[in-house]
Amino acid sequence: MSQTPRIFLTRLFPSAVMERLSSSYEIVGTPTLEAYGQSDILEFSKSADAIFCDSTSRFDREMIEILPDNIKMITTFSVGYDHLDVAAASEKGILLGNTPDVLTDATADIALLCMLGAARMAQSAAETLRDGGWNSWSPTQFLGIHMSGKKLGILGMGRIGQAVARRARGFDMKIHYHNRRPVTARGLEEAVYHDNLKDLLAQSEFLSINCPLSDSTHHLINETSIARLPDNAVLVNTARGPIVDENALIQALKSGKIAAAGLDVFENEPNLNPDYLELRNLFVLPHVGSATIETRDAMGFKCLDNLDAFFAGREIPNPITL
Ligand code: DGY
Repeated sequence: MSQTPRIFLTRLFPSAVMERLSSSYEIVGTPTLEAYGQSDILEFSKSADAIFCDSTSRFDREMIEILPDNIKMITTFSVGYDHLDVAAASEKGILLGNTPDVLTDATADIALLCMLGAARMAQSAAETLRDGGWNSWSPTQFLGIHMSGKKLGILGMGRIGQAVARRARGFDMKIHYHNRRPVTARGLEEAVYHDNLKDLLAQSEFLSINCPLSDSTHHLINETSIARLPDNAVLVNTARGPIVDENALIQALKSGKIAAAGLDVFENEPNLNPDYLELRNLFVLPHVGSATIETRDAMGFKCLDNLDAFFAGREIPNPITL
C-alpha cells in the first residue's frame, strides 16, 4: 500500500466531498458525472486500495471475485446495499461500509411527497396546466383521495419507515406496520403492529414500502399481495424498485384496483417501464429520495469517515455485515 491511500471513485461526488477526499487521499482515475462501467472499474481498481462507489455500480459475486487483491475496502454512497454481494466480499476479505441515518429525513420527506402527489393527482394536474390544457376550474376535475384519517400501512419499520410514520401522523393518518419485530419508538406508541404482511395489506388504504431489497423482498408486492389491498389503495415506493412487480402494479393501476401510485424507484433504473407513461394516476420521481445538498454531503462524509477509520486501523463507523 502506498503512503497516501489510493481511492478509486466510480464517478464524481459532491464538491465538498471531493475536496475532503483529495486532501487526504490519492484519487485514482478521472471521475466524471457519469459512472464508470465494469471494465473501467476493474482496470482502475488495479491501482487503488479502496473503492468509493454508489448504488448504480453493481458488485455482485462475479465482480467481487475478479477484483484485484489490492482492493481492501468498498464504501458505498448509499444506505441500501443490494448492489453489493456481502458474502462474496467477506470471503474475499473486502470490508464494506455504507451511509445510514443521514438520509432518513430526506427520504421520508420524498415518501410523503410521493404519497400526496399520488393521492392528489399532482403530476397529471401539473402536466395539464403546463401543456395549456387547463380551461377552467371545475368541481369534478383532478379529484384525488383524502389522506387525513386514512390507514397507512408501512412495510419495513426501520429508520426511514419510522420517519414516514411520524410525518404521516401530522396528516392524521392511522399507522399500521409490518416488520420483523415490533418497534418501540417515541411518537409511534399508537402504531398497530402486524406480524404478517397479509394482515398489513388488508388494512392499508395507503401502503408505503420502506424495507430493503433482498432475495426475500424481491417482488414481495405482486399480483397476489396487491389483491389483498383494499380497493382504491394508494401505493408508495421509495425503497427499491424490484420489491414491486411492476407489471402487476401497472395492471392494478389500469384496472383501478390501485387508485394511484407514487414512485421514486423502479425495477430497471434509469429506464421507466413504457407502460407507466400511459397512466395518469401516477406520480413519479427519478430516485431523488436523498437528493438534498445537506444529505448528499453528509452521505459523502460518512463514506470518508469509513475510509479514514479503515486507513487509520480503526473499526469503521458504518460497516455492512452479513
Ligand atoms: C440509498 O442510499 O440507498 C439511496 O437509495 C441511493 O442509492
